[in-house]
Amino acid sequence: MSRRQLVVGNWKMHGSRPANATLLDGILQAGPFACDVAVCVPFPFLSETAATLASSDIRWGSQDCSAQEQGAYTGEVSAAMLHEFGCRYAIVGHSERRAMHAESDQLVADKAKAALARGVTPIVCVGETRAQREAGETEAVVKRQLAAVIHTLAHCAGEIVVAYEPVWAIGTGLTASPEQAQSVHALLRAQLRAASGAHADEMKILYGGSVKPDNAATLFAQPDIDGGLIGGASLKAADFVAICRAGH
Ligand code: PGA
Repeated sequence: MSRRQLVVGNWKMHGSRPANATLLDGILQAGPFACDVAVCVPFPFLSETAATLASSDIRWGSQDCSAQEQGAYTGEVSAAMLHEFGCRYAIVGHSERRAMHAESDQLVADKAKAALARGVTPIVCVGETRAQREAGETEAVVKRQLAAVIHTLAHCAGEIVVAYEPVWAIGTGLTASPEQAQSVHALLRAQLRAASGAHADEMKILYGGSVKPDNAATLFAQPDIDGGLIGGASLKAADFVAICRAGH
């Protein structure tokens, strides 16, 4: 399968204007890459990130977006606002938002729909907790999370990027083994195929959870892993660049 891989940095709530300039400069100096590369940055930094990356092929995105079009939603940012200045991606349903902001499967699906409606590609995160894995519920959990999105998006479901991020692997230094990750990715691919037909073979399913320079290549070599969503290691240019170089 010749899907072009995608490596996305998820800065989370990190960064400052000087630190971002150094990080983005390091990425720009190292490019171009054999895979697509993007950074998902905190909202206040989006505009400056867009300007810094304007003449490069590095893409940028946000880490969330509102499910609502506009209105009295204090603190929310709409997909239309993101689209207006060239935002390519919006992460939706990250496990930190599902856990700390009580985001339901349906809300995540509605956010994905709002993003797509404005031409912003949602990166939809799914993943099981450690307790769910130990209880043998991994398959049921990720399928339920993805099913909500497929159902809500209907014929547009093929436009999303999916990220499998086992919660127990995020920020813990514990990575799913390439085999563990591949088996979940294959399940997700089959679910996408049932919804979107052969187009599912062109869709990207990223792996996230303690991806580092020393494990990226083996993860990215799995047949259904199409790149990564990188948290901690996306904050250091040398590490992020090394991971991007593992993509193809
Ligand atoms: P991590 O985070 O790479 O620091 O584990 C990944 C993520 O949360 O997207």
